[in-house]
Amino acid sequence: MSANGKEALLRLNHLDVRYPIFGGVMLRKVAEVHAVDDVSFDLIEGETIGVVGESGCGKSTLGRAILNILWTTAPDVEINGEVLFKRDGQWHDLISKNRRSLRPYRNDLQMIFQDPYSSLNPRMTVGQIIEEPMTIHLNMTLAERQEKVGWLLDKVGLSAEQSHRYPHEFSGGQRQRIGFARALATNPKLIIADEPVSALDVSIQAQVINLLEDLQDEFGLTYMFIAHDLSVVEHIADRIVVMYLGNVVEIGSSEDVYHNPMHPYCKALISAVPLPDPSRKGKVERIILQGDVPTPINKPPGCSFRPRCPIAKAECAEAQPPMVEQTPGHFVACPHFDEMKKAT
Ligand SMILES: Nc1ncnc2c1ncn2[C@@H]1O[C@H](COP(=O)(O)OP(=O)(O)O)[C@@H](O)[C@H]1O
Ligand SMILES: [Mg+2]
Repeated sequence: MSANGKEALLRLNHLDVRYPIFGGVMLRKVAEVHAVDDVSFDLIEGETIGVVGESGCGKSTLGRAILNILWTTAPDVEINGEVLFKRDGQWHDLISKNRRSLRPYRNDLQMIFQDPYSSLNPRMTVGQIIEEPMTIHLNMTLAERQEKVGWLLDKVGLSAEQSHRYPHEFSGGQRQRIGFARALATNPKLIIADEPVSALDVSIQAQVINLLEDLQDEFGLTYMFIAHDLSVVEHIADRIVVMYLGNVVEIGSSEDVYHNPMHPYCKALISAVPLPDPSRKGKVERIILQGDVPTPINKPPGCSFRPRCPIAKAECAEAQPPMVEQTPGHFVACPHFDEMKKAT
């Protein structure tokens, strides 16, 4: 898959993540949460790919699996498949690397977390927080690092004088800016932003998204932008990946997914978005989804959306439908999506 002739920077190949659940006196594995289920797609250099889906569908797990940091919070996690990162014209599988051999890649891939209140160490000054990744990963002198801290603070709309202050002295939006400065400190190529504006007031979300866009232009960054809300990613994303219960069910350009959703789940998601765009008024009928997202514990075979799908058939219980390219670059994991046309 290539967009605008640009090349892939990251390739997910049948990525699969399961959290085992232990129980009983012997603490045997009694069940598992299948959080990411056979996910494959490419990230193109310089693009912003939006990853969207309801809470619990595996977005954060996907982001953290790419960085190979899941073991820090879930030591027994089972990961299969490949996360291929292209460097110097060669593909390197990040999943197969241990902590030590991953180090050289840590500069290139950074993450921005959802919660600006818990993701910054309260005992460190802002300067120390931003400087830390440079100390660990880059060969720079103290003076060089400190100069860069000031420069980065300026880039994210804060000032060098603020480097001696502590996180609690800043607002949520400012803390998120500090998180961006820290992520940028190692000159990354790819930034995974996990719901970076969800915890912020609506009034400052747009400012923060604009800042992310400016930083992308200036530094030539590739973004994976995770959100539970389609309206947040529509403006920033070039392409959108829609997840449901660990599976990718649709991928396409922002335009395609937003204006011509194909998968029954995506149609329902889009129909739930308020309509600021008058051209869509009257064309979109609201589809109300029945029931909640089921749990991914011991997921049964077949299409994961089947229990809530208005057009489900008996055969949908057999296997998860493969992603099929319906129009150039627009993939959908539902062989029956045509039947939903009447609904919109
Ligand atoms: N450390 C963990 N141990 C067990 N289950 C987990 C763990 N982290 C997440 N999960 C489960 O994995 C599923 C996906 O979670 P997550 O990736 O956080 O989804 P999202 O970010 O889309 O809300 C959920 O069912 C969640 O409860
Ligand atoms: Mg999450």
